[in-house]
Amino acid sequence: MKITVIGAGYVGLVSAACFADIGHSVICVERDRARLDMLEKGEIPIYEPGLAGIVSANAAAGRLRFTSVMAEAVAQSDIVLIAVGTPSRPGDGLADISQVYAAANEIAPALTGFTVVVTKSTVPVGTGDEIDRIIARVNPEADVAVVSNPEFLREGSAIKDFMQPDRIVVGTESARASQVMQDAYAPLGTAAERVVMTGRRTAELTKYAANSFLAMKVTFINEIADLCERVGADVTDVARGMGLDARIGRQFLNAGPGVGGSCFPKDTLALVKTAQDADSPVRLVETTVSVNDQRKRAMAKKVIRSVGGSVRGKTIAILGLTFKPNTDDVRESPALPIITALQDAGARIRAFDPEGRRQAEQILSNVAFGDDAYAAASGADALVIVTEWAVFKDLELKKLKKAMAGKVIVDLRNLLDGAAVRAAGFRYTGIGHATDGSDGLLLLQQASAGEITSLAS
Ligand code: UDX
Repeated sequence: MKITVIGAGYVGLVSAACFADIGHSVICVERDRARLDMLEKGEIPIYEPGLAGIVSANAAAGRLRFTSVMAEAVAQSDIVLIAVGTPSRPGDGLADISQVYAAANEIAPALTGFTVVVTKSTVPVGTGDEIDRIIARVNPEADVAVVSNPEFLREGSAIKDFMQPDRIVVGTESARASQVMQDAYAPLGTAAERVVMTGRRTAELTKYAANSFLAMKVTFINEIADLCERVGADVTDVARGMGLDARIGRQFLNAGPGVGGSCFPKDTLALVKTAQDADSPVRLVETTVSVNDQRKRAMAKKVIRSVGGSVRGKTIAILGLTFKPNTDDVRESPALPIITALQDAGARIRAFDPEGRRQAEQILSNVAFGDDAYAAASGADALVIVTEWAVFKDLELKKLKKAMAGKVIVDLRNLLDGAAVRAAGFRYTGIGHATDGSDGLLLLQQASAGEITSLAS
């Protein structure tokens, strides 16, 4: 089968490489000259474990090509997959789908024979209808079916998510297009009950509903974690006790500094706006958005409390800048507002991230970057773990203690063994445990004595 993928961004590149790997002939169209040059030289512009190998193997086998010329690729294709960016629109939070429509406009004149045009990008409900209209206007002769096939790839495990999907959602009213899509995915051998063939609008909404639900689940456990600190409970055990109920499940119940990344913040916001416009508000998602925004800033207050109420003139080492491990992506990462808030409060920031430095440097200022965790920790009064990179789990506590000026560790991912860290002579604060040092039960007791209303606010 011949497939054209429009856009060699994260979703486009992963999809193109994986479709090639399962035997299709794939051309990936990329407009950005610098990005295209890199890809043609075999360099991968994003960090994703396993991706470089799949791209180079399939390029060498002749199944994967990159080009800037759309028309020729589209003309030969059975499937044209639109995987361009849909960022949040400044101002109203709705997804900006101008790049999707621009792609549809460009694809239309080049279409020959029956072609399935697929939106892979996360697009608001009704986008498929508009693409239909655009193509019909530009090329009334086109024999085309526009299909919604949302991606559910997670950064850091995107290849596995593509190759062994939990589900494949295909939205189309065309039986012919439905068959083409099933043929395209057939080499994966996905069980029939994991393939959801549905209407186009349903498929479009499914993606937003799934991401918003997961964001809500994490945000729920984050609020429970705060409550645990106040009432002397343990969020890890609460999550375990909840998660063993198969109806709930343990995944996405790890309390942390708030959800980030290129999807959850953008998609929750877009669903809120879509629902408001449809006069059918999704109030749980609205609350999720605002609770999550506030949480990132609240984490800076937690750090400030851990060093005794002020960071003015103090040095804080931040470990982890990406929104999660195994990516170089810092978009909406909690680390960014935490760092800015600490700087505003007078702290000097040192930082280390295994992959995120390049992106973070473009956004942050006045941050001293270390080449590893110990270099970042050098001379610091407190060390804050913001992202749960595996290398941070194995930190040598003795070496860390030597490097640091103070003895405070704030672990916003509950990555370390708190008891071991305390035994090594540190003051340790995690997330959602009664023993989380400077706040936790102490705060509860003080609050009940009416002493610290200012801290709690
Ligand atoms: C997400 C969806 O999982 C994926 O299906 C979709 O296609 C794109 O959006 P991704 O953005 O890569 O993927 O990250 P994900 O692993 O889902 O994590 C999102 C955020 O939630 C991260 O900031 C992560 O740190 C946070 N999170 C996740 C938690 O804080 N706790 C958890 O238990 C799980």
